This record gives sequence, C-alpha cells and structure tokens, in this order.
Amino acid sequence: MTDIDPWGDVEIADYGRTMERFGIEPIASVADRLPDNRLVRRGIVFGQRDLETVLDARDRGDPFAVMTGLMPSGVFHFGHLAVLDQARMFQEMGAELTLCVADIEAYATRDIPLDEARELAVEEYLLNYVALGLDLDATDFYFQSEAGNDHLVRSKLFSRYVTQNEFEATYGTAAPGKLASALTQYADILRPQAPENGGPKPTVVPVGIDQDPHVRLTRDVASRYRETAYVKPASTYHRFMRGLQGGKMSSSDPTSYIALTDSVSEAKRKIDAAKTGGRTSVEEHREKGGVIEEDMVFELLAFHLIRDDDELARIRREYESGAMLSGELKEIAKERLEVFLREHHENRKEARPKVEAYLEERTETGFGVDT
Ligand code: TRP
Repeated sequence: MTDIDPWGDVEIADYGRTMERFGIEPIASVADRLPDNRLVRRGIVFGQRDLETVLDARDRGDPFAVMTGLMPSGVFHFGHLAVLDQARMFQEMGAELTLCVADIEAYATRDIPLDEARELAVEEYLLNYVALGLDLDATDFYFQSEAGNDHLVRSKLFSRYVTQNEFEATYGTAAPGKLASALTQYADILRPQAPENGGPKPTVVPVGIDQDPHVRLTRDVASRYRETAYVKPASTYHRFMRGLQGGKMSSSDPTSYIALTDSVSEAKRKIDAAKTGGRTSVEEHREKGGVIEEDMVFELLAFHLIRDDDELARIRREYESGAMLSGELKEIAKERLEVFLREHHENRKEARPKVEAYLEERTETGFGVDT
C-alpha cells in the first residue's frame, strides 16, 4: 500500500482507516479543551497528533505556537479556508502565529517562477488573509526564499536526520526537488521553536491530511536533532471539501471551486452548475428526499456559509425530507455567497494599502526577486 503523496492527487476514501493506519488521534479526544469552533463541532476537523502538548502549554500559561503554510500555485478558494480558520482559533487561544509562503516548493516541484509565486502570494494569500481579519503585525509571515540564513541552514542540517530509506518509504521518491522542498518544510514547521524565536515550544500545525507525511518526518527530525531540544510538533487535520462537481476540488479546475476573488455572478453560475443530491424528478424528490451526502451545495453551506448549527440542521431536515428542492437549496447558497463575497471584496480593497505598507516595511531582500 502506498503512502500519501503530498505532491500528488490525494483523495481519502476512508478517513477512519487513514487515521488508524498512520496513528492519527480523533479530535474528539481533546475537543472539550478547545474553544467552541464550528469546524470541530461539525467533524470537519477530525484528527490530531499530540495536541495535548499545546493545550497543556496553554493551561500552564507557557508560550505555544501555531504554524502553517501554503504553496502559491493557484487561487485561494473555499477549500483553503479551513486551515486559516484553525490558525485563527489557535491564535485566539494565545498561540503565536507563523505563516509561510512555500515559494521554494512551488519553484522546485511546480516550476513556478519565484516572481510569479510572489505575486500569487500577495494577490491570493496576503490580501485574502488580511481581508478575512488576519493581523499581519501579530504574525510571523515569510516567504521560504526569504526565510533567513539560520532557517535555510537548518533545513540543510536536517538532512542528517532522515535516511534515504525513510524518505523513499514516505514519499515514494527521493527526487531532488522533493527532497529540497521537504527539508525546507521541516524547517518551516520547526521555525517557531528556533532559538531566535524563543523556542523550543509546543507548536501545532493545521494541515490537510495530504501534508501528514511531512508532519511525521518533521516529528522524527525534531526528536533526533541534537542542537535544539525540539518539542515534537503537534498537528490537526481537516476533511477536504469536495469539488462543486463532486470529486476532488482542484486549483487547476475553476469549475470545481469558488475562489474568494470570483465575482458574485460567476460564483452564482458555479452554484447553478454544481452537483446536487436532488432526485431526477420533483415527484421523486418529494417522496424520497435529497441525498445530502451527495450534495456539493450543502457541503459548501456546512463547511463555511452557515454558521448557525440550528439553521443548518433545519436545512438538512427539510432537504432530506423532500420538503426542500435542490433549486431552493441553491438559492440559499447563492444568497449567502453574495453576502459573503460582496463583504469580502470590499474588505480586500481596504486590505490592499495595509498589505502594500507591510511589504514595503519588510527588511528582507528577496532572492533575485525584484519587488
Ligand atoms: N507543502 C505545503 C503545500 O503544499 C506548503 C507548506 C510549506 C507548509 N511549508 C509548510 C504547510 C509548513 C504547513 C506547514 O501547500
């Protein structure tokens, strides 16, 4: 059986089995120690490793961190929101937040030039993050290509602590670009614990389960590295939101996602074309009800657009009983999307000068990137 390929097309058929196989614990075992959170309540965040280390630090009043990253390879869409929501949950609990733009990884594994990666990162990540309320001044935000000498040196030193066998067994390859990206990512994950950042300290990494191979090997590196007594990083995992047509949501297929920069009319068209769990005729739908598990519009509502549990439960009941038709469900989604996107686009406009000022103030000099 092959491992999960973080650079491949990851589709998880059975989350329970995947958890068992890789030793991921259910989030339920620590949920009562977390703040009330929609993604946790709804089982969208389903798994964790060692989250106790972070929660214990919080309880003791000790410093702890949350760290995650994104590869700038396409637009920022609703499928990306779960990571940011979790990062903010931990930040509200008192964690220091570190956010990385994986531009080296994009270059080495996707052939995306650094200047293009930077532009994507600003337009798609930074502007959306700030529009969604992220405070950049309270965040260690960085590009891998500007991570600083110590960071990049550590990423090389870490090579000492992973064998070729482990690497190949985990990733199915030891291709140079993947080696370089993986080692850089271990340094990313351990960055909040670096001496210059006041480490070691418990750190949680919210990621999609496709990134778990990196988490596992970083945990090995953390326990083997001699120079710093790293705490093995903790992690949380969320379910992937499926694409609007069913199947995988993919950045390379615009019909599969709604981007945060999609116009309202474009977003509505995508909802109109989305796969539903509706029956073939109104009569059949009224009689048997909609198949909610097959309904991608409901999935979007459940993940992000409906915050109130009672309201979501009412929609579920009405849809499953046949009282609500797919067209009516789509109308709800379109209304919510319109409100969300209009507000978000407005917030993006306000975010732009803040982001520009922030980038201006940065002292780092990019690697061969004119900014
Ligand atoms: N590999 C991640 C992706 O493909 C990006 C990434 C780089 C990352 N460094 C990280 C994610 C550290 C989490 C933590 O999107």
